[in-house]
Amino acid sequence: MCRCSSRPAATAPTVAADEVVARCRELARISDEHGRLTRVFGGPGMERANDLVGRWMEEAGMAARVDAARNLVGHLPGSEADAGTLLLGSHLDTVRDAGAFDGPLGVLCAIDCVARLRAEEVTLPFALDVLGFSDEEGVRFGSAYLGSRALAGTLDDALLDRADDDGVTVRGALGGTAAQASRAGERLLGYCEVHIEQGPVLEERELPVGVVAAIAGATRAEVRFRGRAGHAGTVPMALRRDAAAALAELVLAVEAVGRSADGLVATVGRLEVRPGAPNVVPGEALGTIDVRHADDAVRAGAVAAIRARAAAIAEARGVETTWRDLLETAAVAMDPALSDRLAAAVRAAGVEPLRLASGAGHDAVALAGTAPVAMLFVRCAGGVSHHPDEAVDAADVAVALDVLDAFVRGLA
Ligand code: GLV
Ligand code: MN
Ligand code: MN
Repeated sequence: MCRCSSRPAATAPTVAADEVVARCRELARISDEHGRLTRVFGGPGMERANDLVGRWMEEAGMAARVDAARNLVGHLPGSEADAGTLLLGSHLDTVRDAGAFDGPLGVLCAIDCVARLRAEEVTLPFALDVLGFSDEEGVRFGSAYLGSRALAGTLDDALLDRADDDGVTVRGALGGTAAQASRAGERLLGYCEVHIEQGPVLEERELPVGVVAAIAGATRAEVRFRGRAGHAGTVPMALRRDAAAALAELVLAVEAVGRSADGLVATVGRLEVRPGAPNVVPGEALGTIDVRHADDAVRAGAVAAIRARAAAIAEARGVETTWRDLLETAAVAMDPALSDRLAAAVRAAGVEPLRLASGAGHDAVALAGTAPVAMLFVRCAGGVSHHPDEAVDAADVAVALDVLDAFVRGLA
């Protein structure tokens, strides 16, 4: 009989969960920037983070290596050579001024899963690989999932040729060997990721964990307006071609589009004005656009509306505009069989297995075409994420550890 309840299993050991939380906090001290957590793909923080997490992987009994796409990979062999590999993990890169748990929580939970198996001398027939993906957030190159796409074998030339703000391409950053990270030809049994929810649903429902049903599709692009720079004191208002004013108008238009349909979100997250001096009329302005919805047609309609507004604003103001696509991912459903197994493990932990959608993107998006994917969300305080205040309760993490353990053993 199901003992479903909204409370964590009373017997869940929190010692391991406390350590997972403490390690996420320790990892959060490794940053590319002083005074705030930022670890971008290929940055100095990433190398140190891979060193530290690689040591934790080795302590748990895995062989650790960094692959050709800078993913950290911990390997635990199985007892049967042809039984395939189950992938666990999440990402180790972050947004700018990030919290401690978006990404690292899933990597640390997966390492604990291996440590638990080893402590209990359980040998699985299949191999387990714990991944610390190198680029889920896409901060440096504007795209997302460089690490997981490399593993899936879908890093194409357009992505490899993409340049960062300093003109360094993905190919240049990886040394031209990214294709070696592909595991597309292998027998991959699945990819299961633990991640903070980054939203308020689990908290509202008083549930420690939930099973992800699908991940919303996303479009990211960069819009640029080019007008004419000039003297802020001498160019009359009627004669200006102010690129920043055009962009400001578009920012409000993007907000209005985002508000125009249920579940639609649209964001301008980065703005840049050039030349960028108080006494110069801006000659150039660029902004990033991020649009998401669970229904791809709704998202496509919103993106088309924003593009049309950008063109209309440019025409009315006598400036030029260009649009650069950065990322386009369709909504992705989780694998039903793997998700049912995950839900059964949640139920076995004494928790109602709520299925919920993810508005945030995850490496599972890039891997879904290569392996069956499933995700477990962990409640996070106030649904806060992409912010230094991100927080999880160790008791909830303890439930997630039990669920992951039962899920992995169940597959064997
Ligand atoms: C990653 O967190 C994203 O959804 O952008
Ligand atoms: Mn994130
Ligand atoms: Mn994430």
